[in-house]
Amino acid sequence: MMSDQSRVFVWTMLLSSLCPTIQTFLLSGGDVCFGICNCVQEKMWFDYIYETEVKLVRCEERDLRFIPNFAIQNLPSGFYPGGKNFTVDLHSNYIQTVPDKAFGDLPRLSNVDLFGIILYNNSISSVSDSAFLGLENTRVVLDLGHNNLTTIPQALRILRQIEVLEIEENPIMTLDASMIQHISPLLRFSLNLTLYNSWPVELNNLRVKYVWFNGYSGNSFQNFDVHGIGQHGIELDIGGTDIVDLSDVICNNQIKVSKLWFWLNYKLDMRPFERCSQGTVMQNILDLELSSFYLARIPNFVHTLTKLEWLSFVFENITEIYANDFRGLTELKVLYLYNNLITTIHPHAFDTNTKLRELYLHNNMLTHVPDSVLNLNLEKFTMDAIDCTCSNLQNLKQVNATFVDSIQCLDMTQSAKNALDACP
Ligand SMILES: *[C@@H]1O[C@H](CO)[C@@H](O)[C@H](O)[C@H]1NC(C)=O
Ligand SMILES: *[C@@H]1O[C@H](CO)[C@@H](O)[C@H](O)[C@H]1NC(C)=O
Ligand SMILES: *[C@@H]1O[C@H](CO)[C@@H](O)[C@H](O)[C@H]1NC(C)=O
Ligand SMILES: *[C@@H]1O[C@H](CO)[C@@H](O)[C@H](O)[C@H]1NC(C)=O
Ligand SMILES: *[C@@H]1O[C@H](CO)[C@@H](O)[C@H](O)[C@H]1NC(C)=O
Ligand SMILES: *[C@@H]1O[C@H](CO)[C@@H](O)[C@H](O)[C@H]1NC(C)=O
Repeated sequence: MMSDQSRVFVWTMLLSSLCPTIQTFLLSGGDVCFGICNCVQEKMWFDYIYETEVKLVRCEERDLRFIPNFAIQNLPSGFYPGGKNFTVDLHSNYIQTVPDKAFGDLPRLSNVDLFGIILYNNSISSVSDSAFLGLENTRVVLDLGHNNLTTIPQALRILRQIEVLEIEENPIMTLDASMIQHISPLLRFSLNLTLYNSWPVELNNLRVKYVWFNGYSGNSFQNFDVHGIGQHGIELDIGGTDIVDLSDVICNNQIKVSKLWFWLNYKLDMRPFERCSQGTVMQNILDLELSSFYLARIPNFVHTLTKLEWLSFVFENITEIYANDFRGLTELKVLYLYNNLITTIHPHAFDTNTKLRELYLHNNMLTHVPDSVLNLNLEKFTMDAIDCTCSNLQNLKQVNATFVDSIQCLDMTQSAKNALDACP
């Protein structure tokens, strides 16, 4: 979960656009409860999956060594969960163990729909087998990321309806196929595979919508056979790895992948992408991110992925966008090209991208608004500040591109649009 500044920062650095996030928005101040927490009612955004109003017990960043005693008699009056979703937030403390019945009677209070347990960023190395007693039949969101667990705790066997399990940034070294089967299907799952240098086949029992693998130490995904839930296929987010060859995923016609984000892996071999671009996996991809590979240009296969709606090539070494780089991507809505070395964009580069609404070009080396964007119907557009002398703004004269408002002049005192209005 990610209300921590530091984690937001890390993620901003890594630029994975779909990061694990549980953000909260305060709706009402809350009473002190359970001695050191605050009981509030907030709108909460779990991992881009649920946005819901919850009764929230906030115990984060309280220097806690132990989980507080969640005795029901200490619950403030008026905070009876009655049918609301409920969450206990204990992130960024120093908790080492999760004892029996750690959440007291809270789970039993009433017919809670969805129960969230946020233990992100503690020092947990043991979880009692009965820790989650009372939550057997409740839908559960569990964030155990950034702890000291070496396996998925047996305690999860009690939970029949776990929907989200975040367990990234733990030194996981043992995976049990029957546990993976038990927690499936999941809407979200995150895991560090740093201690694995070949694909752990136990994970092939996983059924999941979105999965994030961090820090895998192998160089291929040989034997990968994870399946998605629903007809769209898996959303696969892979970061900080040593993978050289991703062909076992992208060329494997037995699986379905709807979204693929792949970032911070300087060693990836792009040839399988070219070779398998006409295969069913590649042809069904809607979202594609390939970041931080030092690519010098947009690879050829990209324009053949005609279903693409969302595309990101950031932190590359791209210097020029050619006429055909995105030709034929008629469904493309969002394009990220920031943090490159782009000096030139072909005037017809976006001619066929008629659905493009968001284009991110900042942190490049463009000196004027590219002609290629002028006729796009953009809602969001970013680029670096430009020289606003009238001669440099000539190409803006004939168009009504409201998005140009967002471009600053080099002296940072006005927008390019205002500068243009002042030109003769
Ligand atoms: C609890 O959250 C779920 C998932 O977002 C939602 O469908 C449900 O309506 C919520 N329940 C209440 C009582 O707010
Ligand atoms: C983890 O928690 C500690 C203690 O509250 C805090 O200092 C640190 O910044 C947190 N780290 C992350 C990554 O959230
Ligand atoms: C993690 O666990 C190991 C051994 O179980 C221990 O030596 C280490 O100090 C723990 N690390 C943290 C950050 O708690
Ligand atoms: C998780 O993976 C990241 C990225 O490779 C790595 O930096 C981190 O040390 C890993 N954490 C653990 C606990 O293995
Ligand atoms: C990519 O660009 C960076 C910064 O301009 C440069 O230092 C690096 O050598 C380039 N890498 C490759 C592989 O071209
Ligand atoms: C410019 O475009 C905006 C939004 O597309 C529209 O509301 C406005 O009327 C247009 N202005 C002119 C002068 O055409």
